[in-house]
Amino acid sequence: SASKPLAGRRAVVTSGPTHEPIDPVRYIANRSSGKQGHAVAAALAALGADVTLVSGPVTLADPMGVRVVRVETAAEMLAASQGALPADIAVCAAAVADWRVAAAAGDKVKKGPDGPPTLTLAENPDILATLAQAGPARPRLVVGFAAETRDVLAYAAAKLAKKGCDWIVANDVATGTGTFGGDDNQVHLLRRGAAPEAPLIETWPRLSKTEVAARLAQAIADTL
Ligand code: C5P
Repeated sequence: SASKPLAGRRAVVTSGPTHEPIDPVRYIANRSSGKQGHAVAAALAALGADVTLVSGPVTLADPMGVRVVRVETAAEMLAASQGALPADIAVCAAAVADWRVAAAAGDKVKKGPDGPPTLTLAENPDILATLAQAGPARPRLVVGFAAETRDVLAYAAAKLAKKGCDWIVANDVATGTGTFGGDDNQVHLLRRGAAPEAPLIETWPRLSKTEVAARLAQAIADTL
């Protein structure tokens, strides 16, 4: 219907940071609040989509009308995202840790005479690139985010090509923009054009994260 253009569509949305354990009491994390990803999940649901929100550790309330799967690590986020397939739409808004500790300790690491421990890191799976891989389970529309502190459009266009997704929502998170943890966002929507290195670019005004999410959900509905 006109007010529920995504009725009958399934969506998977990733949101928030991941926590990568060092030992049972310590972890590596980042400053993502999950506000933008949670708002996208709510906006897709408001347009009638059947939404699975795969959320890292956040302090936000669960959005209404959305199935929420809570995870901690990137590996768990990937498994939960793939478990939510098949889907028509995937939106990867999570700030996935790029690295995990290669061999997390089973017991708390103790201070000792040998000095501080050395952490060996291993690369985490790229959830967006994995979901965007061609194949029968690929969602029709795969959307990623790109947070950059400079050359936002150039890096975002490169990311669109490299990750294999259809759209990138690019934002400037340079110090002073207040984007991280804030309520507003100023974004550019890049859509894959005829040539991957020449995307179609729309620049949106500074909006609340809720309004960015509503516009994105409407753009998705207009495309499917
Ligand atoms: O490469 P970069 O982290 O800058 O790309 C950001 C985009 O890729 C976001 O959409 C983010 O959710 C996604 N991503 C992911 N898994 C990773 C790293 C990034 O899904 N391991």
